[in-house]
Amino acid sequence: MKNILFTLLLALLILPARAQNKLVIHADQGVTTISKHIYGNFAEHLGHCIYGGFWVGEDSPIPNTRGIRNDVVAALKEIKIPNLRWPGGCFADESHRMDGVGPRAERPKMVNTHWGGVVEDNSFGTHEFLDLCEQLGCEPYICGNVGSGSVEEMSKWVEYITFDGESPMANLRKANGREKPWKVTFWGVGNENWGCGGNMTPAFYADLYRRYATYCRNYGENRLFKIAGGANSADYNWTETLMREAGGHMQGLSLHHYTVPGNWGRKGSATQFSEADYLNTIEKTLVMNELLARHSNIMDRFDPQKRVALVPDEWGAWYDVEPGTNPGFLYQQNTIRDAIIAGTNLNIFNNRADRVRVANIAQAINVLQAVLLTNDQKIVRTPTYWVFWLYKAHQDATLLPVALTSARVAPPANANAAPAPFRREQRGVEAINASASRDAAGKIHVTLVNVDPKNEQTLEIEARGTTVKRVNGHALASKSITDHNTFDAPDRVSVKPFDGARLAKGVITVKLPAASVVLLEMD
Ligand code: AHR
Repeated sequence: MKNILFTLLLALLILPARAQNKLVIHADQGVTTISKHIYGNFAEHLGHCIYGGFWVGEDSPIPNTRGIRNDVVAALKEIKIPNLRWPGGCFADESHRMDGVGPRAERPKMVNTHWGGVVEDNSFGTHEFLDLCEQLGCEPYICGNVGSGSVEEMSKWVEYITFDGESPMANLRKANGREKPWKVTFWGVGNENWGCGGNMTPAFYADLYRRYATYCRNYGENRLFKIAGGANSADYNWTETLMREAGGHMQGLSLHHYTVPGNWGRKGSATQFSEADYLNTIEKTLVMNELLARHSNIMDRFDPQKRVALVPDEWGAWYDVEPGTNPGFLYQQNTIRDAIIAGTNLNIFNNRADRVRVANIAQAINVLQAVLLTNDQKIVRTPTYWVFWLYKAHQDATLLPVALTSARVAPPANANAAPAPFRREQRGVEAINASASRDAAGKIHVTLVNVDPKNEQTLEIEARGTTVKRVNGHALASKSITDHNTFDAPDRVSVKPFDGARLAKGVITVKLPAASVVLLEMD
């Protein structure tokens, strides 16, 4: 007994103190590519996403190219936007896309019943959207109308855009000024068909999906990647039914999940929230990991080869609209909390890149968790934008397996102010989340999120199977979790070079500032 105690004491004295936070990167492993399309954005005819966001028209004093804002294009190119989903959302299933072609003055007008009841004049239509994608150098992701549109309409839209030859639709496209077809890969067959896209049952939609998808043809070299309208958050029955009845006819199945912070149906302010609200929001956003795991498990049963991608093509935070703005426009500010949400979700997607191969944050400009805000001439890059800037290093890189041990952040004592029937136990969250990849040049990139709102976290990183010679990086951090950029102070929150990483004897020790997102680059 004495001997055992002596050995234990000796071990405690000899062994260095074990770091609480430790990340092991298996740098010599990795088989899965992190598709760049995980970093997609979403542009709906909603509020000022399209009108005032992307589109100002050719006669606007705001600098533009064929009506599309130059500052927006430049900003989105900086984050290497890989694809843009359009025209909705709920708008997709009630708009008729042939209304959006031809001379603008002659295009029919409609009421955008979902979003504020405003008049939609269709001045931003098919040609304008595809011009935007060409200016951005990104791939279009078009969502067709199943809810209120016909099979013929969707079929003709595909023909109009992608057919290179003699046909009624191709001839109409040429008459409208575009000789050559566009290349379109991502094609959504409806949106939220369990809700605004027709209130369907999964079995009914699965049948409709098969029918509509049949007539979305592959013309010439163009190959459509057809994405079926997927589940709402934890509706696993939807995924099961779709995979069973229509899995063989699709390349992707979508999933929509928003982070709504309120405890009892209330969303809360985007900028005025307590530390308890913040941690509650983070706990809710982490649900994405469980959702992806469970939907993937169902998909694995029908598709063990993982041929069908899981496509979270609407994700992000949803708060109360900014005071004084149209409730139907979903305009919200964006703080450090949103940066933590974005970094955490993107780490989750990266780590599940074997099944998650396309994703779209909702939305690009002026709507929900926007990457950009615009106001007349002015433009603001949000904290979420800067996260996409940091994470672009992962695009099309090889995912490296990681093993992370992290401290936990306990919820504050007053965590749950909800009335008793709505009270939910808060368990606290892991302080750090991470993902790592190796790019084509052999560089390793690690993205780290320190969720802890108050404390710096020290993390030890060991990269196994390689020798790291240099490490540097960039970080997004600020004094308060409510900090954000405004039109008067557009650069209050932005990325800065990071000098909190030290390399010694092959181990990297990183001091992660409170509530921060950090990118490390190693070679
Ligand atoms: O992104 C806003 C809306 O949220 C979309 O139109 C809809 O698909 C979802 O419910």
